[in-house]
Formats: sequence, structure tokens, C-alpha cells
Amino acid sequence: MTKARILVTRAVFPDVIERLEQYFEVESNQDDRILPASELAEKVKGKGGIFTTPSERITADMLAANPSLKAVCNMAVGFNNIDVDAATKAGIMVTNTPDVLNETTADFAWALLLATARRVTESEHWLRAGKWNKWRFDTFLGADVHGSTLGIIGMGRIGQAIARRSMGFDMKVIYHNRSRVAPELEARANNARYVGKEELLKTADHVMLALPYSPQVHHIIGAVELAMMKPTATLVNIARGGIVDDAALIVALRANRLAAAGLDVFENEPAFDPAFLSLSNVVLTPHIASASEPTRRAMANCAADNLIAALTGGNPPNILNPGVIKG
Ligand code: 8YV
Repeated sequence: MTKARILVTRAVFPDVIERLEQYFEVESNQDDRILPASELAEKVKGKGGIFTTPSERITADMLAANPSLKAVCNMAVGFNNIDVDAATKAGIMVTNTPDVLNETTADFAWALLLATARRVTESEHWLRAGKWNKWRFDTFLGADVHGSTLGIIGMGRIGQAIARRSMGFDMKVIYHNRSRVAPELEARANNARYVGKEELLKTADHVMLALPYSPQVHHIIGAVELAMMKPTATLVNIARGGIVDDAALIVALRANRLAAAGLDVFENEPAFDPAFLSLSNVVLTPHIASASEPTRRAMANCAADNLIAALTGGNPPNILNPGVIKG
């Protein structure tokens, strides 16, 4: 039997490519070149499945132009790079990699919060620049994390994992979400209390964003929302670029309208707004919240599992549009 043809759009662990090669004829981009949209569209032609990352936009045109395509399997929990509605119309399965990254991503949200509130990277840059010549009572005074109020916007699996970690810091948790989560989940999430977005922004000492991107949440944190936050507050975004209006955030941070921000994601990344680099009250990381060795391996294998199931007549464990699987 001839093997189905697949495309792996970016470099990935070689053993995952080897696994895929047991089932498929694999064309992979192990050079990790960012493929221009036209070249990507060319490479998708004739493929039965594609293994994607959020760097590639999988558009309605691309999906409609490829009748042989049966599955698009994203190596990420977020899937705003894929036009899922168009895929569904074309009968193409779309999958993501939920759960395997919850704990690692929550760990990183805390790394950013602590680094931001306690000015870890800012003070390290200062030390490395040779500026430390005496102790002072007010060197790099920051905000307390323990005992403070944590506001989480987006109380899905990652938001809940972030909230659970706050117990050790003796914090109160408030959250905002599309809808209230079940009482037993709130209890596990350090008795998180559901509040409106405005109350959260006005009350929280530290705000964390952990919601998926969709056009409906574009710039839900903009100038108006930033102005509601306490001037001593910090903002952490481990979710997606575009949820925060980066230009407005830069203005707020520059004016110290907000104490500091910890950002793992940006609008138009990796070409983020260079004005961030001129600010001392930001901690900037290159979209690495899920980047522990075991978690990135688990994500890659999860995407591979989905692709193998999708193209060998099985049910992909993480299908986002189950209606396309005919019974
Ligand atoms: C990924 C992420 O590492 O899963 C997601 O949605 O944002 C990150 O965990 C990144 O998108 C690259 O795959």
C-alpha cells in the first residue's frame, strides 16, 4: 500500500520525524526555513496531512485548493493560525495539543510574574553593567507577590494551573472568563472568585492573561483597560499576541501608569515593537512558556499521534472539529 504524503512545516525532534516516516512519505522542513505563503501553498499540494506550528497561516484558500488534504495537526494548544471553519467546510480535520503543556506553561507564567514584580532581569542587567557599587535601602524595590491578589483572565486549563500555584504564595485569586467555571474547579484553583473584567483590572495586584486568541478578544487589554489597573500592578501575558494592544502597553509602561509587564508573546512576533527594548520595566521572552524539553517533546508527539490517527482511519484524540469524521 502506498503511504500517504505529509508535510512537516518546521523543524521538529528527529525521532518524531522517524515516527512519522513509519506511516507516511514525509516532506519536512528540517532546515527550519520560514516558508513564504506561496511556497507553503505549493508544498501543501498533494499532501494528505500537514504538521503545522503557529508560525504558519493555514488559510481558507489553501484548504479549498487541496482536495487531497484530510488533516491539519498543529503543534500547539492555540490554533488561531488555522481557519478552522474553512477546514470544517472542506471536511478537513484540525487538531491541537491541549493538556500536555498546562503545567509547564503555568510554571513559566510564575517565572514571569516573579521576575517582573521583583525586578529580577532589570536588576541583573544593572549588575552586569557594573553599576553595583554600594547597598542602598531602595535598590530595585518591587511589589510583593505573596499575600497579594492575583487576577487571571482566561480560566481554562492553563489558568487553573496558574491559580493552583498561588496557594503557596498565600494569595487571593479572582478571575474573569467567558463563563464561570464549575465550583469544584474554582475550589481547586485556590478558591478563585469569578468577577467582571473591570473589577478584576481594578482590584488585582497582578494580572495574568491565559485566554485563547480569537478576533473577539483582540485588544481586550488596551489603553482604557490599562488605565483601570493599579499603578503598582504588573501584567503577565503568556497567551497570544494581539490580546494586548502593545502600543498602548508601551505608552502605559513608559508613563509608569502600570508598574511592569512580563511578556512571552507579542503582536506581529517575532517582529515585536522595538520600543519595548527601551523600557526597563518589562521582562521579555521569545514565546517559550511551553519550552521545557519534556513538554515540547510531548507536544510534538501529540501532534504526530493526531496525524497518524487522522490518516489511518482512527479518531484523532484532539480533534477540534469532530463533525468532519463520518461515522
Ligand atoms: C507553542 C503556544 O510553543 O501551544 C501554544 O499555543 O503558544 C506554545 O506552547 C508555540 O505556539 C509554538 O508551537
